[in-house]
Amino acid sequence: MPDITNCRSSGTPLTVVLDLGQQPLGNGFRRPEDDSPEYTFWLRCGYSEESRLFQLIEQPDPAMMFHDDYAFRSSTSGAMRAHFQAHAERVIELGWGSVADPFIVELGCNDGIWLRNFADRGIRHAGIEPAKGPGQAASDIGVRVIPEFFSAELGARLAAEHGPAELIYAANVMCHIPDIRGVAQGVAALLSDDGLLVFEDPYLGDVIRLGSYDQIYDEHVFLFSALSVQSIFEDFGLELVDLESLATHGGSMRYSLGRRGRHQPSDRVASVLEAERAQALDRTATFLAFAERVRNSAAALRTALTEARAEGRSVAAYGATSKSTTIYTCAGITSEHIDYILDNTPNKIGKVSPGAHIPVVAEAEFELRRPDVTFLSAWNHQREILQRHPWYASQGGVWLTHVPDVHVL
Ligand code: TMP
Repeated sequence: MPDITNCRSSGTPLTVVLDLGQQPLGNGFRRPEDDSPEYTFWLRCGYSEESRLFQLIEQPDPAMMFHDDYAFRSSTSGAMRAHFQAHAERVIELGWGSVADPFIVELGCNDGIWLRNFADRGIRHAGIEPAKGPGQAASDIGVRVIPEFFSAELGARLAAEHGPAELIYAANVMCHIPDIRGVAQGVAALLSDDGLLVFEDPYLGDVIRLGSYDQIYDEHVFLFSALSVQSIFEDFGLELVDLESLATHGGSMRYSLGRRGRHQPSDRVASVLEAERAQALDRTATFLAFAERVRNSAAALRTALTEARAEGRSVAAYGATSKSTTIYTCAGITSEHIDYILDNTPNKIGKVSPGAHIPVVAEAEFELRRPDVTFLSAWNHQREILQRHPWYASQGGVWLTHVPDVHVL
């Protein structure tokens, strides 16, 4: 895809605030014997004070990323399964007032982790999922899947075929879609008059606060704030009606939007917008300072792993995350620093990580191999992972993290 120099939402010029260099695809795990040239792109971020939207300058074609072998499965984490079930049950309990036969649409339903709760209760629904592997997994558990990318055209088509949607939901999907205006247009065409668009994504405010620069990779074309979400959707007659901060993905925000004037916005909308101004998420200088912090963090991680190696210690990483690709490339970390990455995703095991080519092995190997040092690359699942392995630290194992700075846990 061509580089963009103007904001994808407002069209105003972008200032380049962060340069993370040439990077492979975050989810580009490949077979160890595959010696074909690896696709790379220039990972740079731009910001516009006009739209307050933090975004990638270049993004690979979505068809290259969300293809049939797309490796990410939402249901690999028990905490994520519980998170989505709790939210779906809350939505179902609230109901849809006088609407007898509600229609629920999920953009990017992955393996059906959220929508299955509606399918199981016979609620009319559609899951939009262009990646074949996850889409098949969703179909297999009874979710009705439309194997396409959501767009203005698909929004209008669904409205014509099924009527308006009471709820359009997306989790960790909206920030992946470069044509955000097309999506907003599709939502505006599909949403019922009193319907809600609810979406959650990694939150820019948390990334800046935690120094979690690994949230920046090819799939995350945007890191949203409430300020930027407000500015994107207002052109389409939608306004923020509620905000909820979430612990998922190391810090996310759930945005609820409705047609202008149809809902009373909660007090949280004003308070989050105010907090974002206090955090200077509306200032270019904030992102330039963040870039300096990223460079220091990458250098500190490399030093820590180099020292561990010099002391003859074995080193593993926990979690073959897409996010960690950014870290390994920025910090110049390869299989010379990390022996292997532990992961429980069947289609990642036996492959090597993108760029760094560190082998991915089954999570069960952890107790057998007992590495001296383990970099917690899936830091956003820290509680779940540490709870499952209390033996590790108590037997002298060292957990290393980079959030909010490089340190031993
Ligand atoms: P994510 O941060 O994008 O959700 O990716 C987390 C990765 O870590 C994913 O590949 C699954 C893996 N993982 C494990 O191997 N074991 C675990 O206990 C958890 C929570 C995740």
